[in-house]
Amino acid sequence: MSNITLTIIKPDAVAKAHTGKIIDHITSAGFKVRAMKMIFLSEREAGAFYDVHRERPFFGDLVRFMTSGPVVPMILEKENAVADFRTLIGATNPANAAEGTIRKLYAESIEANAIHGSDSDENALREAGFFFSELERF
Ligand code: CMP
Repeated sequence: MSNITLTIIKPDAVAKAHTGKIIDHITSAGFKVRAMKMIFLSEREAGAFYDVHRERPFFGDLVRFMTSGPVVPMILEKENAVADFRTLIGATNPANAAEGTIRKLYAESIEANAIHGSDSDENALREAGFFFSELERF
C-alpha cells in the first residue's frame, strides 16, 4: 500500500473558479499537498496521460475536454491515499456520486466530472511521475 495519489482538478472546475474550494475540501480531509501546478495540457500530453483509455469510445472527447483549459494536478499524501481519495471524490458519474463528495458538489457530467483520482497505487506512482519531477515534490 502506497501513501500517495495523483489528482487533477479538471478544466470545468478550474473555469468555474472551484479550485480553491476543492483544495480546501481535500486538505480538510487530511491529505497533504506534496506537489501542485497549473498547466495547459497539449493533445499529445493528455493522450499520453489517458493512454490506457485510447481504445475506448470516449477517448477523443476525453482528450478534447482535458485540453479545453488549464488543469491543476497535485500529488497528495495520506495513509491509504488511493482508496480514501476515491471515496472523497465519489463515483465517476456525478449522478451516482454520494452526497458531500467532490463530484456531487462540483461535477456536471461523467466527462466534465471536476476531478481525477488515481485508481491504484501503481497508477498513482506513474501519474505522479508524469506531472512532477523530484525537484517539484516537497
Ligand atoms: P477519470 O477518473 O479522470 O478517468 C477517465 C475519465 O474518462 C473519467 O474520469 C471520465 O471523466 C471520462 N469519461 C468520459 N466518458 C466516460 C465513460 N463513458 N465511462 C468512463 N469514463 C468516462
